[in-house]
Amino acid sequence: MEKPIYLDYNATTPIDAEVAAYMKQFIDAHYGNPSSGYAAGKFARDAVQKAREQVATLIGARPDEVVFTSCATESNNLAILGVLKGKQGRHIITSAVEHPAVMEVCKYLATQGYSITYIPVDKNGRIQPQDVEKAIQPDTALISIMQANNETGTIQPISEVAGIAHRHGIVFHTDAAQSVGKIPADVNASGVDLMSIAGHKMYAPKGVGALYVKKGTAIQNIMFGAGQESGIRPGTENVVHIAALGKACEIALRDGEKNRLAMQTARDHLLNGLRAHLGDGFVLNNVFGQSLPNTLSIAFPGVHAHKLAAQIGNEVSISTGSACHADSIEISPVLKAMQLDASIATATLRISTGKYTTPQEAEKAADIVAGAVLWLRKTE
Ligand SMILES: Cc1ncc(COP(=O)(O)O)c(C=O)c1O
Repeated sequence: MEKPIYLDYNATTPIDAEVAAYMKQFIDAHYGNPSSGYAAGKFARDAVQKAREQVATLIGARPDEVVFTSCATESNNLAILGVLKGKQGRHIITSAVEHPAVMEVCKYLATQGYSITYIPVDKNGRIQPQDVEKAIQPDTALISIMQANNETGTIQPISEVAGIAHRHGIVFHTDAAQSVGKIPADVNASGVDLMSIAGHKMYAPKGVGALYVKKGTAIQNIMFGAGQESGIRPGTENVVHIAALGKACEIALRDGEKNRLAMQTARDHLLNGLRAHLGDGFVLNNVFGQSLPNTLSIAFPGVHAHKLAAQIGNEVSISTGSACHADSIEISPVLKAMQLDASIATATLRISTGKYTTPQEAEKAADIVAGAVLWLRKTE
């Protein structure tokens, strides 16, 4: 059986062959602990420092502003809980479409005496910056709004929000797990104070992430241990995966334009293929130009998305709603927040291309998806 065409790059990406080749030396030979004083320790320490520089270069930061973590979930937890630890304020502003890695932290904080304002989104999943400004209270301690959504690819106006936050003296965090490596994510251009990064969304392995912490931002550790990562994230560094993340960032910077074009071209071939088969028999929930170049949030009215995904599962890998709740038949909180009609929300698929998706694969996937849509419309 042929391998299914993989169109779920927002769930995770394969490891880039260059990244895999680079990280192998730290598996095979260079296993030193970065805290050790002898040569093997220095080798590992240098590798971690090199990775810190590579991540910093990609996002326009200083190396000492990069903290390595185990994943974007940890980065988000550290950013939110670590900033709040030093603040009196008990009010947080976030959006209604955040990933559970932010949502669940906020839900927990609500049980601890914090109040949370969830900024609503329009039908394309975008917040209005002025809604953030209106939500600010005297005790607002943190604003956290994602750079791009995992289900729809919708890009939020984070530089405007950062400007608003700073005019009011409030710290601003963005979850950039989906955007780093897909669109420019320069911390100076956006003005964010904290930014979460996920390795496995950008061709590095799963289980590594980073948090950008702008110099001067007050943040406290939420785990206790030895003093690694300036004491902000103690624990022996995962040298193999940190080195891999660094390499992935170097490649993302080097190949950024080429990769964006490849993702976008594949997405456009897919869309054109679907249009050729189905005419206007589908609805796009995201707006091009305001969303990631690789993501289609697309509904096929009259067809249940779960049935469609199951029908084509051996040939094309795509997800309904967020991959994190792939088995759920619940309308995802993101689509709910967009107030989509239930008939559209339950018919919505997320198709996400990557740097390896070829136009031929995209066209073939469009044939398969459209064929299944037509068949299900006839039989359902
Ligand atoms: C926007 C967003 N934030 C956070 C995460 C969590 O990332 P990780 O799996 O690295 O913890 C994801 C993963 O799907 C995501 O899409």
